[in-house]
Amino acid sequence: MIRKATLGDVNQIAVVIMRAWKGAYTGIIDPKYIKTMKKEKYISIFKDNISEEKEIIFVYDEKGDEKGVKGFISGKEQYGRYDCEIVGLYVDPENQGKGVGKRLFQKMEEEFIARGKRNLIVWTLENTANNSFYERMGGVKKEKKLLEYGGKLYSGVGFKFDLKPKK
Ligand SMILES: CC(C)(COP(=O)(O)OP(=O)(O)OC[C@H]1O[C@@H](n2cnc3c(N)ncnc32)[C@H](O)[C@@H]1OP(=O)(O)O)[C@@H](O)C(=O)NCCC(=O)NCCS
Repeated sequence: MIRKATLGDVNQIAVVIMRAWKGAYTGIIDPKYIKTMKKEKYISIFKDNISEEKEIIFVYDEKGDEKGVKGFISGKEQYGRYDCEIVGLYVDPENQGKGVGKRLFQKMEEEFIARGKRNLIVWTLENTANNSFYERMGGVKKEKKLLEYGGKLYSGVGFKFDLKPKK
């Protein structure tokens, strides 16, 4: 099931980020940066995000308890040309390719639409496997900027989505 994240989910969210990052960006991001990634850092970021309600976070929970969390999506409302953003979307490598990412993405789209949002942006690294996923979800490559990881710059791409309320 897809449900709102709670504080009990932070450990598993951190595990999913670490595992999905290694799978997606090994060979793209400098391995030195990947080695410096610490689970504790993500636990602390998500504790703060959830308790302070800084982001909207949904998890995919396959067992109905926090140990069953195998994916999550986080997003936020903002000002400017794009009135909302997906900040993170990660599915555990063993669960990828089974429709979980799509369900999480659609849940966040529905949430943004219900909040009156219409222009969604998602930033990611250019030429990675997830680019095809975002295109499949209806996104259009629209923006570019450099993204920094561990002091190095990489080409980033912004996918734009027009959000339309369902009739
Ligand atoms: C990108 C990611 C979130 C996609 O989630 P997923 O659960 O694997 O994707 P789904 O199974 O829901 O796929 C949904 C659709 O996208 C397509 N798709 C997914 N990944 C794809 C890929 N790499 N290439 C082409 N199409 C892809 C699927 O074929 C599917 O199409 P369908 O609706 O016609 O069946 C997931 O693979 C992941 O966590 N990757 C690593 C981390 C990452 O890159 N996160 C995004 C950073 S912002």
